[in-house]
Amino acid sequence: MAESMRGLKRSHRCTEVCSQNIGETVTVMGWVQKRRNLGSLIFIDLRDRSGILQLVFNEETVGSEGYQKAGRLRSEYVIAVTGRVEKRSAAVNENLKTGDIEVVASDIRILSESETPPFQIEENSQTKDEVRLKYRYLDLRRPDIQRNLMLRSKVAQLMRAFMSREGFLEIETPMLCKSTPEGARDYLVPSRVHPGHFYALPQSPQLYKQLLMCSGYDRYFQIARCFRDEDLRADRQPEFTQADMELSFVDVEDVLDVNERLLQYIFQEAIGVTVSLPLPRMSWQEAMDRFGSDKPDTRFGMELMDVSAVVAGCGFSVFTGALEGGGSVRGINVKGQAGMPRKRIDKLVEFAKGYGAKGLAYLAVGADGSYKSSFAKFMTEDELKALVEAMAAEPGDLLLFAADKNKIVWNVLGALRLELAKELDLLEPNQYNFLWITEFPLLEWSDEEHRFMAMHHPFTMPMEEDWDQIDSNPGAVRAKAYDIVLNGTELGGGSVRIHQNDIQEKMFEVLGFTRELAHEQFGFLLDAFQYGVPPHAGLAYGLDRLVMHMVHADSIRDVIAFPKVKDASCLMTQAPGAVDDKQLQELGIDIVEAREEA
Ligand code: AMO
Ligand code: AMP
Repeated sequence: MAESMRGLKRSHRCTEVCSQNIGETVTVMGWVQKRRNLGSLIFIDLRDRSGILQLVFNEETVGSEGYQKAGRLRSEYVIAVTGRVEKRSAAVNENLKTGDIEVVASDIRILSESETPPFQIEENSQTKDEVRLKYRYLDLRRPDIQRNLMLRSKVAQLMRAFMSREGFLEIETPMLCKSTPEGARDYLVPSRVHPGHFYALPQSPQLYKQLLMCSGYDRYFQIARCFRDEDLRADRQPEFTQADMELSFVDVEDVLDVNERLLQYIFQEAIGVTVSLPLPRMSWQEAMDRFGSDKPDTRFGMELMDVSAVVAGCGFSVFTGALEGGGSVRGINVKGQAGMPRKRIDKLVEFAKGYGAKGLAYLAVGADGSYKSSFAKFMTEDELKALVEAMAAEPGDLLLFAADKNKIVWNVLGALRLELAKELDLLEPNQYNFLWITEFPLLEWSDEEHRFMAMHHPFTMPMEEDWDQIDSNPGAVRAKAYDIVLNGTELGGGSVRIHQNDIQEKMFEVLGFTRELAHEQFGFLLDAFQYGVPPHAGLAYGLDRLVMHMVHADSIRDVIAFPKVKDASCLMTQAPGAVDDKQLQELGIDIVEAREEA
């Protein structure tokens, strides 16, 4: 039978006991990791969130009842043990923090028993994800996940400390909001009091934080839960956490400055990594041209090179066709990989097609200077020589080319570059390359909607020097927007916001909003701005992604206590679930069964 805590008090967590406590009596509590019987001795590895401590039971010290209890212990039983700390006589374990001591038990209570768990609680378990997530409460006992969540807690504390020191106020914003279009699909919550009406869960606190600036709070900060109904990936969850901020009376430089110091502080304090400032910056255009990505991983080279001018007028119609269609021809030089087997190259072609390429042209420069290529036969000797030179290729190099619209070429080569870096082991995990991407385009043309869309959101401030082009060449106008990138991941992003009525109205016009529509959707913000609004700007980090990088996790799920899986369900609680008719009636909701596939 499970015993109670009556009269007991824990004196130490498992690994708080150390050689300095030798001779003292301690009381520790936790889970049984392992039991070993060795003649007249029973050894127990006791586990709590701090780590593992070895307990020893012998009948003389713990008494026959205690000894029998110890003999009954199985994995994951919860126990409390009082005993004397002693120096380990044998088998000192260098791998354990407490490896040179043990606690010789004088008393034991079994606080709770355990069924045999569906998997062993251990580090880096090979258990299938479905099983781990179904029994998440057991999975969360694994030391590696516990370390991740402890670090996450620390990062949040450090952020709060830093932000508070810098004069930011922590203010909570609502979870039940009005649905406004801000990119992803909303999660909706039906209203009982207003049948047929819905709240939306926030995709971010964006509008509220701008209103707080309008209300004079000057500097706001929040660790805010956000909800987006979008396709999940390894670094995306339907609900995730932002470390969100907004500042008044500032411009780009002020936001970058406070954030650089924030990053430096938390990386130093949380994981002992020194970040030197200022962080490098790159314009969006340069990032696309050199890396084919607006979140470049700069830990390795293999940069894109534009060879459009070199191949213009050559005999290879794939190249010239792309140029005639307004596109470009660009390549990457995969150093020393000329010997890559044909099969592997074919796989790269398939990979490129997955990113929208029609094909991938290659040219391998042999050690003797000869070429092996999918297109050499269409080009003259001189044309080839010029191309190889433009790519700074040396004997032994493999050149890969994509020819298409710029957007596709960037996308394909950007992805290929990363894929090859992984394969060729060029990514140093303990190198932290931060990079600001700045000067994003304000607008992005949507082929589907046949109109310009805001690249960030409709409240992003255009760059003053470009504003006169808003009618003549809207696509060329750059924004005061910035992203912070770490090793190829977008950790966070933000912008200076529009606080002038005339610019905001023009933006809505360019985006195809009528006055009525703009007021219907953002009326409260536009109205608020009629009453004196300070210039303001802000930024939000994906906290989950930040922690993911700090602990080198492969999946965002490893830094979230209770994550969802790919189809946005929770394997442990079975959410989302059906609700009973009474609940639906109250909400005025009728379920129309999904029509059967024809
Ligand atoms: P943005 O949409 O860029 O900006 O989001 C900010 C950061 O949040 C993280 N993030 C996510 N993390 C996990 N799962 C997701 N589904 C997910 N979506 C986004 C990313 C991203 O960089 N209101 C603006 C910020 C601002 O302008 O101040 C915003 O939400 O790391
Ligand atoms: P094809 O003439 O279609 O047989 O293509 C000749 C070579 O060019 C093959 O290696 C194709 O993979 C490659 N290729 C085709 N389209 C493209 C493209 N848009 N960009 C780069 N290479 C291409």
